[in-house]
Amino acid sequence: MTAIGVDRAAARTPITARPRAPRVVRVALAGCGTVGASLVGLIQRQRGLFETRHGVRFELVSVLVRDPEKERGVAVSRQLFTTSVDEFLSVDVDVVVEAIGGFDPAERVVRGAIAAGRHVVTANKALIATHGPELQRLADAQQGALQFEAAVGGGVPVVRTLRSELGGHGVRTITGILNGTTNFLLTALADGVRYADALVDAQARGFAEADPSRDLQGLDAADKIRILAWLAWGVDPAAQEVLVEPLPSDPEPLARQAKRRGGVLKYLAGAVRSDDGRVRAWVRPVIIPTDHPFASVRDEENAVHIDSDSLGVLRLQGRGAGGNATASAVLGDLIEVARGLRYGEI
Ligand SMILES: NC(=O)c1ccc[n+]([C@@H]2O[C@H](COP(=O)([O-])OP(=O)(O)OC[C@H]3O[C@@H](n4cnc5c(N)ncnc54)[C@H](OP(=O)(O)O)[C@@H]3O)[C@@H](O)[C@H]2O)c1
Repeated sequence: MTAIGVDRAAARTPITARPRAPRVVRVALAGCGTVGASLVGLIQRQRGLFETRHGVRFELVSVLVRDPEKERGVAVSRQLFTTSVDEFLSVDVDVVVEAIGGFDPAERVVRGAIAAGRHVVTANKALIATHGPELQRLADAQQGALQFEAAVGGGVPVVRTLRSELGGHGVRTITGILNGTTNFLLTALADGVRYADALVDAQARGFAEADPSRDLQGLDAADKIRILAWLAWGVDPAAQEVLVEPLPSDPEPLARQAKRRGGVLKYLAGAVRSDDGRVRAWVRPVIIPTDHPFASVRDEENAVHIDSDSLGVLRLQGRGAGGNATASAVLGDLIEVARGLRYGEI
């Protein structure tokens, strides 16, 4: 049936129709370890979905690593690997993904990519907690995207939630389990596993690094709560003080004490803004009741509760560590950038 006065061809064309050819998005990947290799695997497995749902096709054009000979568990053409940051940055791409971590050479990669007018996606919490606002200003000046969902909460979309959904709400407090490694260890202790065995298991599964001291001392969670405080209240994360109480070097006695008291030991982070505008942030072990929502956050999961004026308490929970969970957050950023390019928004 055709309505009178309506052009037939136009009537047949759904308003959501998009041109057929997918937008090719050229991606350079810095770091092909736990997160980077998982990202490559996800992109390869879901190729068809990106084209049909988002109208984009990712093309991996350069991969920066230390050792090009290393086995990575995903198919990457040997010709794409480089060990030179300069060579990596000289390749013409749309997006640079940084999944190296730490500062050198990750910071050089991110700054170089922004300066070259590339969009940047990074999983690097240390870099964002230290230089986030400055990097954001540099990216804004270049009209480039700077995305870092994977830097906090692994696969839990807390960065996007604070930036967008809660952008117009007055956030009062943020509380969370922000470190997957320590949550994995404390879950194992609650289940009766010995601490040393739990640590070996966490390392074997890729949740804990060879040197897990930043996790155990609360420094990783402190970086993350700084980033969330920046997103919620605009404070400079590098200048934000965080009161950090490390986990005891042997947390078994404290975990046993929690059990005797009918509770469970969790390693929590939090931030609150008081009426005078000051933000107080902390990371510390806390014994919580077993019916508290955080008590059911197990293994490498993360959870964040955000209390805001108009929404009340918003609860986010999911996998906070591991290659696939973290890579899925990176991929979400990548898709957002790709869609922006596809529809000429960035
Ligand atoms: N793993 C997680 O569960 C997780 C969770 C949340 C966030 N993140 C963040 O994700 C990022 C990546 O973590 P990851 O666990 O994937 O680390 P990873 O497994 O250690 O991988 C690091 C990658 O960077 C490369 N790399 C290191 N130094 C380099 C250098 N000087 N030049 C060139 N390449 C270099 C390594 O190359 P080679 O392979 O050749 O050695 C490796 O491919 C970090 O910012 C981390 O904080 C990780």
